[in-house]
Amino acid sequence: MIRFEQTFNSFLLQHQEKHNRTHHFLILLDALISAAKHIQYYYLTGALKGNLGQAGSVNVQGEDVMRMDQIAHEITIHYLKASERVIHAVSEEVEEIVQINPKGGRYFVYFDPLDGSSNVAHGLPVGFLFGIAKRNLNGDEDGHLRAGRDYIAAGMFVIPTGTFTIGLKDAGTWRFHMDETMNFVRPTRMILPEDSKTWELSFNAGNRRTFAEPVHKWISENESKYAFRYLGALAGDFHRILANGGMFMYPAIINHPNPKKNRPEGKLRLMYEANVVAFMCQEAGGTAVNEKAIPILDIQPEKHHQRTALYVGSKGLVEDISGTLRTKA
Ligand code: AHG
Ligand code: MN
Ligand code: MN
Repeated sequence: MIRFEQTFNSFLLQHQEKHNRTHHFLILLDALISAAKHIQYYYLTGALKGNLGQAGSVNVQGEDVMRMDQIAHEITIHYLKASERVIHAVSEEVEEIVQINPKGGRYFVYFDPLDGSSNVAHGLPVGFLFGIAKRNLNGDEDGHLRAGRDYIAAGMFVIPTGTFTIGLKDAGTWRFHMDETMNFVRPTRMILPEDSKTWELSFNAGNRRTFAEPVHKWISENESKYAFRYLGALAGDFHRILANGGMFMYPAIINHPNPKKNRPEGKLRLMYEANVVAFMCQEAGGTAVNEKAIPILDIQPEKHHQRTALYVGSKGLVEDISGTLRTKA
C-alpha cells in the first residue's frame, strides 16, 4: 500500500489559511528549512571537508578551515536575506544585531545556528534553534528585545537526525521527520505526557554540587524516581523531554570550587536557547522557569545575548522545583 505523508509546507499552508494569515510567514519558514537542510548537509560531509576543526586552522588541501558554527551562521544569514522577510536577526555567533533587510522586513529572528558545540568533534547531534517575533507594524519599535511571550513561533532542528519541532503561537507544538526526499513530513502534535512513568531528568550531573544547596537537595531527593539522560545539546535533550515528559535543567552555578567558573546568571542564552524551548514546551502543555521561579517567557530581555538559568518540562516537576527555588533567599 502506498503511504502518503503530509509535508510541513502543506501543513503550514493549511494553518495559515485557517487562521487567515499572510504568506510572509511561510516564506520565512521555508528559508529556515532550507538553511537547516544546508547545515545538515555540511555537518554530514564536514569531516571530509575539514569543517569540524577549529577556525583558523588549515585543512589537508591547504585551505582555511571555517568552523562548523560559522558555516551554519553564514548559511542561515544567506537564506534569511533571500527571504526578504526579516528586518534584523540576532545570532549566537555574532555580538551585534545582524542587519538583514532593515527597510522591508516584517520579522525578527533570534537564532543559534549550531548549539551543542562540544558534540561537533564527535559528529553527534547538535541543534539549530530559532525564535520569531513580528515587528511592531503600528507604532514605535522597541529595540527588538522581545520577551518569549511575544514570539509568534519557535523551533528547533536536531542536526543531523532530520527531526524538526516547531511551536506555533496558540496552535500547538508539532514534530516533523525528514523523509528520503528531504521533505519534513508526518506532523505529530506534541503533548507532554501526564503519566510520570516515562519522565526523565536531564542536566549536567557533574555540576550538581555547584548548584544552590536547595537545588542540590531537590535532586538528591527526586532523582531516583526518573530515568536520567544527557546529550549535552539542548535541542537533543529537550527533544526527548517533549516526547517523554520530565525536566531539563541548567541551574545557576554558584558554588564552584573555582569561583571564576560560577555562572550565577546560568549558562544558556535567553533569546535563542531558553525561550525557544520554553515556547515549544508551553504549547505542548508544559512550563519553564528561571532560578527565581519566574516564567522564562515573562522575562523582559535587557540584552540580546543575556543568559538565564533554565528549568523546563512537565508542569508537575517544574512547579515542584519552583517551590524549592522560591525558598532561596
Ligand atoms: P553552546 O551554546 O556553547 O554550544 O552550549 C551548548 C549548551 C546546550 O546546548 C547544552 O544544553 C549545554 O550548553 C551543555 O553545557 P555543559 O557542557 O555545561 O553541560
Ligand atoms: Mn548555543
Ligand atoms: Mn552556537
